[in-house]
Amino acid sequence: MVYEPQEDSFLLRRCLPSSFKGKKVLEMGCGSGIISVEAARRGGEVVAVDIDPEAVLATRKAALDARVTVVACEGDLYEPLNDESFDYIICNPPYLPSEPGDPDLSLDGGKEGWEFIDRLLAGAKEHLTLDGRVLLVFSSHTLPDRVADIIKRNRFSSKLLGKREVGFFEELFVVELVPDGC
Ligand SMILES: C[S@@+](CC[C@H](N)C(=O)[O-])C[C@H]1O[C@@H](n2cnc3c(N)ncnc32)[C@H](O)[C@@H]1O
Repeated sequence: MVYEPQEDSFLLRRCLPSSFKGKKVLEMGCGSGIISVEAARRGGEVVAVDIDPEAVLATRKAALDARVTVVACEGDLYEPLNDESFDYIICNPPYLPSEPGDPDLSLDGGKEGWEFIDRLLAGAKEHLTLDGRVLLVFSSHTLPDRVADIIKRNRFSSKLLGKREVGFFEELFVVELVPDGC
């Protein structure tokens, strides 16, 4: 089932730059298309990827309805892309620890929750322009210290763009990652 936009989607949307004019944007894990469509509305040239074919269709439809252009592709992370580079990679990933049973691809970030982010950041620089940046969501349930290690290991510096509490037990974060030295 396509991920219905939730607090994490809305927080990420609030943290987007006001303009993407002249920028190439990759949204990884586009779901309903809420973020890709907003990035395109703000002038970005947007490519969206999702492993779920229904999400790809939903994103295409959302873009059509909003009369913007989003190129939506099905695949696992960077697999459907050629050697294209982007000014932004934006991702509200699956970030929760695995639950027993069939994994929900929208939520299941791996055994401890951070594993998807590890794969995302390991491949990010191959698809970023030299001064490109990553906008990433994660949760207090994703082991934030582990996420900080992954960010450091992949040689990014991180800046907090937004956070919000969800209920009593969870906090969501949006960070901007810039390659070290930029
Ligand atoms: C939390 S949802 C975010 C959806 C949307 N971007 C939003 O903010 O509402 C995560 C999305 O990542 C997709 N996803 C999960 N694993 C993926 C993978 N390996 N490659 C690409 N997309 C993936 C899921 O299908 C889901 O649509």
